[in-house]
Amino acid sequence: MRRFEGRTALVTGGARGIGAATATRLAEEGAHVVVADFDEAAATETAERIGGRAVRCDVTSRADVEAAVAAAAETGRLDALVTCAGIIRDNLVHKMTDDDWEAVIATHLRGTFLAAQAAQAHMTEQQSGSIVLISSTSALGNRGQANYSAAKAGIQGLAKTLAIELGRFDVRVNCVAPGFIATAMTRQTADRIGVSFEDFQTAVAEQTPLRRVGRPEDVSGVIAFLCSDDAAYVTGQVIYVRGGP
Ligand SMILES: NC(=O)c1ccc[n+]([C@@H]2O[C@H](COP(=O)([O-])OP(=O)(O)OC[C@H]3O[C@@H](n4cnc5c(N)ncnc54)[C@H](O)[C@@H]3O)[C@@H](O)[C@H]2O)c1
Repeated sequence: MRRFEGRTALVTGGARGIGAATATRLAEEGAHVVVADFDEAAATETAERIGGRAVRCDVTSRADVEAAVAAAAETGRLDALVTCAGIIRDNLVHKMTDDDWEAVIATHLRGTFLAAQAAQAHMTEQQSGSIVLISSTSALGNRGQANYSAAKAGIQGLAKTLAIELGRFDVRVNCVAPGFIATAMTRQTADRIGVSFEDFQTAVAEQTPLRRVGRPEDVSGVIAFLCSDDAAYVTGQVIYVRGGP
């Protein structure tokens, strides 16, 4: 499939994990992809591998985000925005510091808002575009993740509101909410709770109806669908990608 021939996509947090898989998939289908990440070296590596462009960007900074969106729009178009930048700072609520709270809310909620706001300016003018925001099953509640759960639930509300506001411009906004996906982020969780990444994945797989953990490509395929014209009448939705209901 070459659903993104002649189109431009911006992927925040595109250097690795789900973001890199998404950047790869969109590029394989013909998109010019701008990989925006605060890990510039990793972003450059990913961009070079897929024939895209890397931009150093901290999504909590309005100036950085606006510059990344402007870099993508240099092609004359901005067809897709996928917001994958993310961190975790897990702690039970009685141990959660202000810094744990602020860092996670700033990266996920403010970062997603800033990127969507900057992208929609181009998309509404263009009268087309697809924005995919990455939420999580943690939006439904997850022990040790009060900060992350609140941010990921907030992202779902943001997506639904933007879908209502931007629909008249043919700009669609959806959420993808992954369950456990094997990336550096879930490896960090395994390290924190003191189990090997392999044992952690085995335990999660046993609790998952499809009997395995997710791969970044399981998520990027759904994101690509939502970015594409195959999803032309899909907006304001949250699609869970979790190997189960
Ligand atoms: N891995 C999972 O199980 C899982 C599940 C549900 C949701 N998610 C979400 O998917 C997204 C991608 O996660 P992942 O598992 O690929 O993690 P990852 O740690 O592999 O990748 C996250 C990327 O975001 C970048 N990043 C972090 N903070 C940033 C900032 N302020 N500005 C710019 N870039 C920044 C990192 O450099 C990294 O490249 C995140 O939003 C995460 O919350 C992951």
